[in-house]
Amino acid sequence: MSRPVLHTPLCDMLGIEYPVILAGMGPVAGGIMGPVATSNLVAAVSNAGGLGVLGGAGSSPEKLREEIQRVRSMTDKPFGVDLLLPSNYMGGAAGGEMPPDPRDLIPQETYAGVRKMVEDLGVEWQQAPTPAPAQRPRTGGMSDAQMEVVIEEQVPVFASGLGSPAQWMDRLKANGTKILSLVGNVKNAKRVADTGVDVVVAQGTEAGGHTGRIATMALVPQAIDAVAPTPVVAAGGIADGRGLAASLALGAIGVWCGTAFLVSDEANQPGLQKERILAATDEDTRVTRLYSGKTMRNITNPLVEAWESSGLQALPMGLQGILVADIVHSARKAGREELLMNAAGQVSGLLTETRPAADILHDMVNGAADILGRRLPATVKAVPGDA
Ligand SMILES: Cc1cc2nc3c(=O)[nH]c(=O)nc-3n(C[C@H](O)[C@H](O)[C@H](O)COP(=O)(O)O)c2cc1C
Repeated sequence: MSRPVLHTPLCDMLGIEYPVILAGMGPVAGGIMGPVATSNLVAAVSNAGGLGVLGGAGSSPEKLREEIQRVRSMTDKPFGVDLLLPSNYMGGAAGGEMPPDPRDLIPQETYAGVRKMVEDLGVEWQQAPTPAPAQRPRTGGMSDAQMEVVIEEQVPVFASGLGSPAQWMDRLKANGTKILSLVGNVKNAKRVADTGVDVVVAQGTEAGGHTGRIATMALVPQAIDAVAPTPVVAAGGIADGRGLAASLALGAIGVWCGTAFLVSDEANQPGLQKERILAATDEDTRVTRLYSGKTMRNITNPLVEAWESSGLQALPMGLQGILVADIVHSARKAGREELLMNAAGQVSGLLTETRPAADILHDMVNGAADILGRRLPATVKAVPGDA
């Protein structure tokens, strides 16, 4: 069988065969298994002709370096690393004081409210072991040490999932690293484009994980117009050839896909999470601040529903994580893993089976090449006029 051809400027820029990027997905389910996009999935996507991106969020600098080196042992193709660079973590800038038990930073009302919600679902509340100081989330600067690894390892592509990579730009560029930045609205698209990123990834609200309010179909062309000549990659709700073709038709130079690869054989996440994604319909996701403090799209569950109707305010990222650690601990002790974070996008309803990542990628590329190569559905006629 011949390989499909689908080539855009993104392929030339990143040195890849197909304009499809695996989203650098971090941990789900309270981090019990580490990131979703580990070296196995990254190498599978890169070897298949796309760009695999490691989900670095939540990884220690040592683990991140090990994973980067592992990818290099599994493929000689380009790959990337994604990190979250939040500007507001634990509610403050770098260097804040941490009490002996970080739970003391959580307002009593929030802590008691969440505990009651969990207990109302028949789960006994059990505190997670208090993290040793070295393992605790730090105020601000969480990602500095990870960024040092990205720079030392001279990774081919860096993607910032949250926040701006501005302060790292010169050192990344000196290494020849291509820089992608995820945004969810036009204002942030302009902001990161002004810092000199190579590609803006415009992610619509359909997306799994942290997400904004604007839909992909509306966001992508507006972002393209706002940041030209910086190119734009589309994200959010793209899981097959139709989504890829549509994104290119909107003017994007490629796609960044998360949910589609969540159910790949190589995706590192618990079987239950994959099953729930495969069983989900288009209506089974909900955006909630419960799991990270920021708006995140998940397969919904009774705890998310209870949190959303409680009126409780989420805490800043990091601090909310300390609260969530107790939820995770309690739910796992009770064997109620369905209450854990299960980030996934609205396109979950399109997914019906687990498959190797290479098959997912090749089907997507084949489908798009078919559509764009003018084998359009018989009902569609399209001939440009000159009037
Ligand atoms: C399980 C999961 C984890 C994610 N983790 C991250 C992350 O750590 N960093 C990041 O930049 N984006 C993360 N995202 C968002 C993706 O990068 C991507 O933008 C999104 O999945 C695209 O939409 P789609 O899911 O509809 O394909 C995550 C998404 C999912 C589903």
